[in-house]
Amino acid sequence: MTDESIQQRVNTGIPGLDEMLNGGFFNGTTNVVSGESGTGKTIFGSQFLYDGAMKGEKTMCIITSEESKSIVKEMKTSFGWDFDELVEKGLLTFVDITDPSLRLQKSVEIAPSELIKSFKKLVESKIEEVKPDRIFIDSIEALFLAIESNYKLRTLIDDVFGVFRKHNVTSVISVGALFGLDTMVEYGADSVIKLGRIMAGNNLQRSVYVMKMRGSATSNEVRVLSISDNGMAVLKQSPYLE
Ligand SMILES: Nc1ncnc2c1ncn2[C@@H]1O[C@H](COP(=O)(O)OP(=O)(O)O)[C@@H](O)[C@H]1O
Ligand SMILES: [Mg+2]
Repeated sequence: MTDESIQQRVNTGIPGLDEMLNGGFFNGTTNVVSGESGTGKTIFGSQFLYDGAMKGEKTMCIITSEESKSIVKEMKTSFGWDFDELVEKGLLTFVDITDPSLRLQKSVEIAPSELIKSFKKLVESKIEEVKPDRIFIDSIEALFLAIESNYKLRTLIDDVFGVFRKHNVTSVISVGALFGLDTMVEYGADSVIKLGRIMAGNNLQRSVYVMKMRGSATSNEVRVLSISDNGMAVLKQSPYLE
């Protein structure tokens, strides 16, 4: 990798966020979007892919649980984004690891670290086949929840993230706030975006801040995250102010 390609930034596709990141994600990095249920993680990653696909980039969406299977339907009803059409055009590829034909699903006979090994192998072969510019994994916790030792967990997270870095894919990985797993996943990431909700007077506001970004200055502000029929956007204002 040349110094120049290390410096290259990838737009997040979320209006207002690139400015907080000083220009966007670094090309080829693994970026974690972290927050509780309903804070906007699936929309974040989908918009990141949609932005790339609309620019003619190749994108890949990795589904890891029953919950994220309805992503195509949800993006259609929420924002009118036609992911089926992107798939037809070859701009978006889904990899659903819960698909029984892949024989990757959790079972009592498969040790959790074996499942992760198979996941790595499958994802690596798909990346080599499709050569995507952007990847979104929704979400990572299904993969790691069964790992009991934190030491092992760290090693496995680094292992999986290493696959994306090796292939120079810019990735967004969502993680929920569950049993402290989010903290472990955040350690391994090049950048972490935190989504949340904040009480402002009588109002619940969506919020966003950049928790870390390796090798870059970032904004230290907490801002309002808006979700509307046009998608997700970061507003200039703080959720704490009227
Ligand atoms: N068109 C829309 N306008 C406003 N809010 C929306 C719209 N579409 C979805 N939402 C909201 O987005 C939230 C879901 O975001 P999602 O990305 O699925 O969260 P997570 O993946 O973190 O659980 C829900 O609270 C939902 O009401
Ligand atoms: Mg989700």
